[in-house]
Amino acid sequence: MPNLIATSFAPVDLDAIASFEGRVAILIAPDGQLSATARRVNRLTKGAVARLVEAGKLEGTEAGKIITLNFPVGMAAHAVDILCLERRPSVLDARKAGAALGKVLSEGAALLCAGNNIKAAQIVMGAVMRAYEFTLHKSNEDDKARALSVMCLKPEEIEPEARALIAVAEGAHMTRDLVNEPANVLTTTNFAERLAEMSALGLEVEVLEEEDLEELGMGSMLCVGQGSDSPSKIVVMHWKGGNAEDKPLALVGKGVVFDTGGISLKPAAGMEDMTMDMGGAGVVSGVMRALALRGAKANVVGLVGLVENMPSGNAVRPGDVVTSMKGDTIEVINTDAEGRLVLCDVMWYAQERFEPAGMIDLATLTGAIIIGLGHDNAGVFSNDDTLCNAFLKAANAEGEGAWRMPLGKSYDAQLKSRIADMKNVGGRPAGSITAAQFLQRFVKDETPWIHLDIAGVASVKSETTLAPAGATGWGVMALNRLVQDMFEE
Ligand code: BES
Ligand code: MN
Ligand code: ZN
Repeated sequence: MPNLIATSFAPVDLDAIASFEGRVAILIAPDGQLSATARRVNRLTKGAVARLVEAGKLEGTEAGKIITLNFPVGMAAHAVDILCLERRPSVLDARKAGAALGKVLSEGAALLCAGNNIKAAQIVMGAVMRAYEFTLHKSNEDDKARALSVMCLKPEEIEPEARALIAVAEGAHMTRDLVNEPANVLTTTNFAERLAEMSALGLEVEVLEEEDLEELGMGSMLCVGQGSDSPSKIVVMHWKGGNAEDKPLALVGKGVVFDTGGISLKPAAGMEDMTMDMGGAGVVSGVMRALALRGAKANVVGLVGLVENMPSGNAVRPGDVVTSMKGDTIEVINTDAEGRLVLCDVMWYAQERFEPAGMIDLATLTGAIIIGLGHDNAGVFSNDDTLCNAFLKAANAEGEGAWRMPLGKSYDAQLKSRIADMKNVGGRPAGSITAAQFLQRFVKDETPWIHLDIAGVASVKSETTLAPAGATGWGVMALNRLVQDMFEE
């Protein structure tokens, strides 16, 4: 399903450069010294590359800068792309350089001359990530045969490294496809069907239907979807790649396929953005795909709560009191604070059924986190410093912004209800924190837990280093790395 570019790896063959049709990309370090492949391209183009260096075009440049020579003489290629990159770059710089190529890879084939660069696999990862596009609903864009051929010194070492990274990119692409998809296509049923297809990858996928959720007593989750014609569902994706006796890590995602706000209706302006309100479920799905594709040696279970929040004659009303699976009663003050109503039941179910070694929930939960952190960082809330620090480290290593926020008793007090055990909103002050406090009421003391509020980072209006405007896939790389760092032997 995800529209990944095809990649192939081969040893360096200088004679193949002249006849390659498409784009040819070479790497040049800021000091301007030319590698063997760059020297070959320079010779073929009668010195164009050396002139560019001599003209000072590479001085002071950073990774991610790309200089394109169009229709070069002496080569079959229609473009030579010069990617600026240190000979021993950091992982993130290597991906940046690759992304610059991925961005111009919109059609046709490219040959990446990676030579002996030690981060060749990371360059490829960056290119594959950035070459993403969502053209499914553009009627005049044909399927393009985009491909990246990589020429490198040791393809037998670079290729397996790159394949594991491409698995993660494929997971992120799935997340982006889900997040970009409009709500008339990605209904709760369609979402569950897409996840069921992942059983072909070795995941155990199970779909809980509304009657199952009723039997489990999930009055909180069910009230959110009761105004919609689309049935509410929980999908459980289980990856058993570790020792049978090891408790799994649980990933829980908010999957509101569309959030109108319900009876507490949102304003019209910008409401179309609420197609991305299943972003948490999208990340959980993408991570599970990545883990399965790369055969992770860990036990991880992903659970997504799929609902649609619509106003109707059956919809939940402000003032209604519902009972969660845990047994706690909730006064629904605002039907637009629906994500926490979904998550609390899925999280409780995850703990009761799997006794997880850790639990991480992801949700486009609050507009307030965008006010606080903008689009650069997700909000991180946790009851466990060890798990939290490991996550922050993983996110930092992958270049995915994450910033820890506080929790505390006094915030929790804002959730006091006159007639029920709690209400679902805590007023305007600290809106993201009171949302997290609500969730924490459904976290057992013994469960190390992280809540990630991704409302600001799941989908953005302008391009980022590794993605075009729209869905980012934020979190797939960080969570994959966390699993690698903490749960694989
Ligand atoms: N899905 C929204 C949060 C959101 C806002 C996500 C903007 C992405 C972009 C969530 O369900 C919501 O409506 N939250 C309310 C909570 C309020 C009623 C306490 C909000 O943030 O306004
Ligand atoms: Mn809402
Ligand atoms: Zn929502």
